Amino acid sequence: TPEHPDPLVDTDLRPMFDDIKKLPGLYGDLEAQFDLQEIAKYYFDGQGKAVRPLITVLMSRAINTHLHDEDRKKKEKFWEDLKQLLSPMTLRRSWAGRLLPSCPLFNSQWQVAKVTEMLHTASLVHDDVLDASDTRRGKPSVSHLYGQRKVTQEDAIMFACTVSSYCVVFPPQGLVALLAASHSAVMAGDYILSVASTILARIRNEEVIVVLSQPQCSAAGQIQEPTHVDVLLFQVLTDLVQGEFMQLGSKENENERFAHYLKKTFKKTASLIAYSCKAVAILSGGDEDVQEMAFQYGRNVGIAFQLVDDLLDFVSSATTMGKPTAADLKLGLATAPVLFACEQFPELNPMIMRRFQEPGDVQKAFELVHKSDGLEQTKFLARQHCQEAIKVISTMKPSLEQKALITITDKVLNRMK
Ligand code: FPP
Ligand code: MG
Ligand code: MG
Repeated sequence: TPEHPDPLVDTDLRPMFDDIKKLPGLYGDLEAQFDLQEIAKYYFDGQGKAVRPLITVLMSRAINTHLHDEDRKKKEKFWEDLKQLLSPMTLRRSWAGRLLPSCPLFNSQWQVAKVTEMLHTASLVHDDVLDASDTRRGKPSVSHLYGQRKVTQEDAIMFACTVSSYCVVFPPQGLVALLAASHSAVMAGDYILSVASTILARIRNEEVIVVLSQPQCSAAGQIQEPTHVDVLLFQVLTDLVQGEFMQLGSKENENERFAHYLKKTFKKTASLIAYSCKAVAILSGGDEDVQEMAFQYGRNVGIAFQLVDDLLDFVSSATTMGKPTAADLKLGLATAPVLFACEQFPELNPMIMRRFQEPGDVQKAFELVHKSDGLEQTKFLARQHCQEAIKVISTMKPSLEQKALITITDKVLNRMK
């Protein structure tokens, strides 16, 4: 696995992908028709941005330091002395980088970061089926590579005939295998989801042991009911699906449209980041204020992240993004740049309502968005969310991880991919 560009969490993230790739084996028949494990492992090659586990790990360390670090001053002095002695290059690369003055990460928090990346990946595997998208992260998408069949009318008729003959000739398992082969991407997503759920369920047992056995960090606050973490992350699953579902419809009333878009954006993208941040705050023993601080940071960064994603769909290229661009209009989606543009060019209104389905709609809407200041306004709104994210975490005691969380907002805002 390649080294993570952020040396602060390299030690936490590098083993994460190796660990994910050890997806527990399939039970029963290992002579399955296709190798589910191989498909499920496909995206865990360390090539993704890993923004979600990065934020989760940094938030954990920042909160652990905020809540539990009693020798802060001593460590800071040690670090300053060391910096005088070593060159910045040596500091980045050498063992010295591991002496950063932060509280350790609890194993349960690391597991949450891992689950976060897995849930996100599972949702992407499904998303590429829904969006009929052929590329992801610069390579063929799972659905493209492993043959998600698009069902045509002839397919449906053929299928009906096959079902009736199959049931006579073969036992039901044969039919299941036939269906399975054409829906491997959907099932690979389900499989990642089920493994992630298992890991999540196990945190419940480990949490108390890990939190209580931290040698340098005694839990100061009341330890919350561990089941809360499970509940939070299952809430994310509901949100992911509801977000995708909300995306299928546009509000008739123009005044409600933007609120609908923001609510959908929270569910589709920000919820996972926000609840992961909240989960690690709970695992650190944080009270409601700390949990809320973590949640609001994740919520704001998450919304900014999706706003920028919607912006990049209009301005970036497929080569840079590693996935198709100019795709949202073709999918019938009116995202922030279009909704802002609509205020200047009301002729976009009927196009939004018919989901850009008439010939020429996509091209016309694309041009109007570029003519308007919808792209600048989208960036402006993303910047406001980033500033809010920075504001909420400024209440924490200073730490290198807190600084890194601030720097991330800048990367989210100015990213090109
Ligand atoms: C990418 O959006 C998609 C998501 C952020 C969430 C997709 C969620 C589901 C498909 C629900 C199922 C969830 C699970 C956990 C299995 P996009 O299409 O706007 O972005 P893209 O340009 O990266 O494709
Ligand atoms: Mg989608
Ligand atoms: Mg998509």
